[in-house]
Amino acid sequence: MCGIVGYIGTKKAVPVLINGLLSLEYRGYDSAGLAVLNHSSALKIVKDMGRVKNLQNNPELDSLDGSLGIAHTRWATRGAPSKNNSHPHTDNSETFTVVHNGIIENYDELKSFLADNGYTLHTETDTEIIPNLIHYYYSKNSESGILSAVSNALKKLEGSFAIEVISPLLKDTIIVAKKDSPVVIGVGEGENYVASDIPAILSYTRKFYFLEDFEIAELTSDSVKFYDFDLNSINKEIKDIEWDAVASEKNGYDDYMLKEIFEQPTAIRETIGTAFASDDKINLPLDGLDFSKFNKMYIIACGTAMHAGLATKYIFEKFAKFQCEVDMASEFRYRDPLIDEHTLCIFISQSGETADTIAALKLAKDHGSTTISIVNVIGSSITRLSDYVLYTHAGPEIAVASTKAYTCQVTLLSILAMYIAENKGLSNIDGFNELKSDIIALPEKVKSALELSDSIKELAKQNYTKKDMFYIGRITDYAICMEGSLKLKEISYIHSEAYAAGELKHGTIALIEDGTSVIGVITNPQISSKTLSNLDEVVTRGANIILVTNQDVDVSSTNIEENSIIRIPKCSPLVSPVIAVVPLQLFAYHTAKFKELDVDKPRNLAKSVTVE
Ligand code: M6R
Repeated sequence: MCGIVGYIGTKKAVPVLINGLLSLEYRGYDSAGLAVLNHSSALKIVKDMGRVKNLQNNPELDSLDGSLGIAHTRWATRGAPSKNNSHPHTDNSETFTVVHNGIIENYDELKSFLADNGYTLHTETDTEIIPNLIHYYYSKNSESGILSAVSNALKKLEGSFAIEVISPLLKDTIIVAKKDSPVVIGVGEGENYVASDIPAILSYTRKFYFLEDFEIAELTSDSVKFYDFDLNSINKEIKDIEWDAVASEKNGYDDYMLKEIFEQPTAIRETIGTAFASDDKINLPLDGLDFSKFNKMYIIACGTAMHAGLATKYIFEKFAKFQCEVDMASEFRYRDPLIDEHTLCIFISQSGETADTIAALKLAKDHGSTTISIVNVIGSSITRLSDYVLYTHAGPEIAVASTKAYTCQVTLLSILAMYIAENKGLSNIDGFNELKSDIIALPEKVKSALELSDSIKELAKQNYTKKDMFYIGRITDYAICMEGSLKLKEISYIHSEAYAAGELKHGTIALIEDGTSVIGVITNPQISSKTLSNLDEVVTRGANIILVTNQDVDVSSTNIEENSIIRIPKCSPLVSPVIAVVPLQLFAYHTAKFKELDVDKPRNLAKSVTVE
């Protein structure tokens, strides 16, 4: 995954491009580069390895005075991270310059085609194919123009792409095109912008066009025209975006991740929104959907979003009375699932751009299933493909490790389960009203859980040098453990696993030895004593434990020490993932900080995974 930015107008392009890249760095940070068409009409390219700040400090930028430019921050897919592989890339004659986010799957075929026609590739990237193909078509028929050459080249590409094309032959134009990778166009006064996502250019404009798959945009400083790949004109509607640009900045916190952890009470409150505004009926934008036609449901997502599904499966079973399966999108899309028009498929995604989730969504639609998506990024691909969309109002989530999106997803899924119960005439089920009060109380309880940050920092200090860490719990507590464990590994690089506590004795307990760290989670009175026994078993084998609980656990008859307990606010076990995950997020955060790691941009990861 990579990030792209573009600017055309009257300002100097470089500062706009660099600001955009800094905001998009979560999408990739192996290398960065930009191309600017100078006022002398010379096209200049500057690239650097590593972070955008290396590019920002590159003295070569001083010679770039133009007001038209494109830029790229890279997360290597084809071709190792290197200055030579970093974007922008040009064709052999240096006529066309391109930045690209995505993957060209028919690279080998196109490379041979270009070689047969006298082109040589100088990098290991698939992107270099694109400017050369454009050149090939342009040189065959220059009278048809550059747009026509671009559209001919695009038709040859298989895979995913969001591209920008500039050329000294096009004095005042950027050409943008998209298939399966995100790109938005920001509209200003006498200037226009391009970016992989909204926050990258939100400080310049609130007016956006969302480019769809198989669409081309032709930007000048005063106009934006749209075409399909056959160059038929398209009319598109401009959308006003209300996000606060300040909300995408760090606001005094050391890192985006910490800021986002502390934003959770507000984000959850915003996500609950007006769902419970009326006493008679839960308010969600799902009018006309009759849930009695479904006989089962799937929740499909990746990573943290999938964990939100695992954490809420039990609410759907208890209140919506559906058999509920939770699946990873990357598995679901290839395993020929038994779904039809009587299946409800719910997709969860913070970015709305995850390639596997999009593919799974398309599969569900092909089978005639009804699709509802829970998404954070407004106007993203998943929102446009789904039958119904429910937004988490978490605001921009910049840190690669997802935190506030997860708690908002669990909150919204819980509300959806209640909505379905009501729609099916099941709101008299025991616990329905209590669940509503529990959801409404979540923002305050998460706020109290955040007060534990300092004591959790102490625990992180005692554990940050560990090589391994285990998380154990049962039912929803197990789902919480999976999320806690993922947070720890992705930002602290400590090997960690989550286990259903009762499974330990079937093999994994062999790994427990003196000094092994085990985090237990207990939020359900029904299985409290069971998990407690499992924790006692690991303590007697030498483990150091941390117990996160909202139960009045009595450890007096165990080997567990009272001071190893983190007490979180009480709530129903059904919504406990929202509260119990907070100390686990903080633990991962402080551990990574003690290890002096970059928590916002962990190695090998990107914020949204738009390639398979
Ligand atoms: O944007 P999405 O919610 O679809 O992303 C899904 C996963 O890639 C994401 O949750 C990932 O696991 C996070 N890095 C976890 O913190």
